[in-house]
Amino acid sequence: MENSTYFAHDTHKYMYCTDGVFSEYVFSLIKTIVPDNFSRYEQVYEMGAGMGRFSFALVKNFPRVSLIEPSASYARVLKQLFDAQQVSIMNMTMEEFFKKTVIAPHAIFFNFHLLHHLSPAQRTEYFSYLSRARVPAVFLEPNPWNPLIVFQLIINPDMRMKNEWQYLTLTRKQLSREFHAAGLSVAAYGKLCQVPPPITKRALKLAVCKRSLLFLEHSKHLLPFFSSYHLFYTTPSHHAVS
Ligand SMILES: C[S@@+](CC[C@H](N)C(=O)[O-])C[C@H]1O[C@@H](n2cnc3c(N)ncnc32)[C@H](O)[C@@H]1O
Repeated sequence: MENSTYFAHDTHKYMYCTDGVFSEYVFSLIKTIVPDNFSRYEQVYEMGAGMGRFSFALVKNFPRVSLIEPSASYARVLKQLFDAQQVSIMNMTMEEFFKKTVIAPHAIFFNFHLLHHLSPAQRTEYFSYLSRARVPAVFLEPNPWNPLIVFQLIINPDMRMKNEWQYLTLTRKQLSREFHAAGLSVAAYGKLCQVPPPITKRALKLAVCKRSLLFLEHSKHLLPFFSSYHLFYTTPSHHAVS
């Protein structure tokens, strides 16, 4: 998927955050969809953590955090942002991670905007790995039905359609099929973030706007194509594929 050059130094600055306000807001929305008590996990792994845009909330809410990121320049940003004993930065691909790492007990995986940057074969390998390891996982991807995302792709000079287009194919139906084929059950699904992320980030700085954002979240049932993200929470199936 040409990720090594696409996610190189000095690109995709829109992913860079210096504080956890946006990350914690998104995490609060995730908790409204996922019927799990995250406080029971001792370890969280974030695959493809990028520059840590969503990692702040994981660092705040889990006792031990591993951020896996193959881009050396993004891994350096992660080291600067999360210089804490409970956080380990693993500068490697998920394939290298599978070979080198024994999953800690009581662990969960989080993945933000990762799947559409993996090939179908890589996704199958990843899902099968999660199924064999018998760990739950949360996947947040761009909502393929939101027309504003195509617009964002066109106007953002760092984004290229050939590296991003797959998100359009990762519908609820398609991804659910891929999860099931690899031995994972979709235990929860939902849409979230009704206001485009760049506006949400600004609005979150003002308390009154934050209340409006939360109110607007109710519109996701009426206007699902306005949601910026859709979320899958997977657990290993009882009859996992080996
Ligand atoms: C769109 S970025 C998302 C980054 C971050 N999760 C976020 O939402 O801000 C996709 C990330 O996946 C990483 N990635 C791509 N291929 C990967 C692989 N095989 N294993 C692990 N991470 C990968 C990229 O380096 C990049 O940082």
